[in-house]
Amino acid sequence: MFISFEGIDGSGKTTQARLLAEHLRAAGHEVVLTREPGGAPGAEEIRRLLVEGAGDRWSPETELLLFTAARRDHLERTIRPALAAGAVVISDRFADSTRVYQGTVRADLRATVDRLHDLMIGIEPDLTLVIDADPAVAMTRLTDRGGNEDRFERFGPGFQQRLRDGFRALAIEAPQRVRLIDAAGSLEDVAARVRAALALVLSAKATA
Ligand code: TYD
Repeated sequence: MFISFEGIDGSGKTTQARLLAEHLRAAGHEVVLTREPGGAPGAEEIRRLLVEGAGDRWSPETELLLFTAARRDHLERTIRPALAAGAVVISDRFADSTRVYQGTVRADLRATVDRLHDLMIGIEPDLTLVIDADPAVAMTRLTDRGGNEDRFERFGPGFQQRLRDGFRALAIEAPQRVRLIDAAGSLEDVAARVRAALALVLSAKATA
């Protein structure tokens, strides 16, 4: 099974991906927890080009190509081998980030994003959990975190609101695969919602 987590910067999806991985491991599953951009040595090198530096360092089109190159490497080196070995793969971001960031918010490139995805990636997660957070709350988390991986965060709060709208639109577009998880409440509240969403999908599969 392939599960992705998505959401705006500071939504808490990274923590939720880790908590779900721990939960599934405790239940006896083999789990590969990975992330994008990155998740393989070459893709991690591309990551640095993408998340550091000035906002105008890349055009949205160049960004799209770099994210897709990183994803292809991640797919070849990490995701496909893990799925073939029978592991559950949990990725902190996947193709929906490109659909929303490069395809909808940074630019109106959705058709190009979809064509490139079909050509070079070709798979979707079985389940995508969008951690749906209020941009104002997410922003305070980011400021507390520090670090230099802030290229996208510096596009500002209006950018984060449009990202949230973009992820919500995807949940309407692909309701079988993409589930919205309310980010309000404690870490454990959100983790329980994540586990409930997964259980629902698994029981639907079992009866299908
Ligand atoms: P990530 O490491 O998930 O950052 P964070 O933990 O702050 O959410 O992702 C880095 C940045 O890259 C993030 O701002 C989202 C952006 N991004 C895209 O614009 N397109 C993509 O396809 C991906 C995977 C990420």
